[in-house]
Amino acid sequence: MNDDTQQYVIDVHDLNKRFGNKHVVNNVSLQVGRGEIFGFLGPNGSGKTTSIRLMCGLLTPDSGSGTCLGYDIVRESEQIKRNVGYMTQRFSYWEDLTIRENLDFVARIYQMRNRREAVDRSLESLGLQTRANQLTGSLSGGWKQRLALAACMLHEPKLLLLDEPTAGVDPTARRDFWEELHRLAATGISVLVSTHYMDEAERCHKLAYIAYGKMLARGTASEVIESQGLSTWSIHGEHLSKLSEQLRTTPGVDQTVVFGSALHVSGRDHEAIEAAVRQAVAGTSLRIEPIGTGLEDVFIYLMSHSKDNFGAPS
Ligand SMILES: Nc1ncnc2c1ncn2[C@@H]1O[C@H](COP(=O)(O)OP(=O)(O)O)[C@@H](O)[C@H]1O
Ligand SMILES: [Mg+2]
Repeated sequence: MNDDTQQYVIDVHDLNKRFGNKHVVNNVSLQVGRGEIFGFLGPNGSGKTTSIRLMCGLLTPDSGSGTCLGYDIVRESEQIKRNVGYMTQRFSYWEDLTIRENLDFVARIYQMRNRREAVDRSLESLGLQTRANQLTGSLSGGWKQRLALAACMLHEPKLLLLDEPTAGVDPTARRDFWEELHRLAATGISVLVSTHYMDEAERCHKLAYIAYGKMLARGTASEVIESQGLSTWSIHGEHLSKLSEQLRTTPGVDQTVVFGSALHVSGRDHEAIEAAVRQAVAGTSLRIEPIGTGLEDVFIYLMSHSKDNFGAPS
């Protein structure tokens, strides 16, 4: 069934998937609203790609259920595949075809009727017209990525599933790419995007953090930060890595992370963390201040406190 009035473009519950004795996706539930950019964060091997493939009907879950664009992820996977734009982790195109030829090739795969117009429209909307006849192999990383996006949008999907679309792309091209995503979202297109770049997490309307197949936190960036209840202090000065090691074993300290010239010290106990930090710098020239806990602090915390239960027998 497909009902355009429904609230969520992705609405899945308790998805599970095992490969052998590896519990790769463990009770994952997720709702993505219309026009929302939803970030899927997590370290390599945490189950992001597998979750995405479950949601778009490319893989069948061992258990769990849900809909994507209103279609049942198990029974209506054909409709889902036809109606989403899926950019796989390593999008591939023919390097020795031109941009236009590559797009035309994808349009043929989708069996589109008005191929020529669709390709023209796509070239225009992404500002690729002037490069239409350029060989794809000669494009910069940023332009290759724009081509990948154009290709998965040829059939005008309402939902984009982008699997680490900016991996290995330079910062300027990544910024341009995100501006494009926000333009698309403003037109009502929904985006589920996996990434392990922290700055990208902050550009999502909502996000979920997944590690070892389990969803450990989700919500807006500030909801995710608040959910862990961490207080964080920053310490500026010399020899921070030594201090970091020392503080790590101090009662009240749950985490220490060196960020360039600052050491972030976090803990769940507000008073204990302050006492630990004050004591650590007493009699030194180190400067301390309480700071807002950042997304990166929280992700590191979630990661280090999650258990590797991947190999556990079922
Ligand atoms: N088809 C498969 N068969 C066996 N193991 C797989 C398969 N696909 C993925 N895995 C394993 O599942 C885990 C999660 O992989 P993946 O979903 O690709 O994570 P991510 O995208 O977060 O890096 C990894 O340990 C990976 O090796
Ligand atoms: Mg992946």
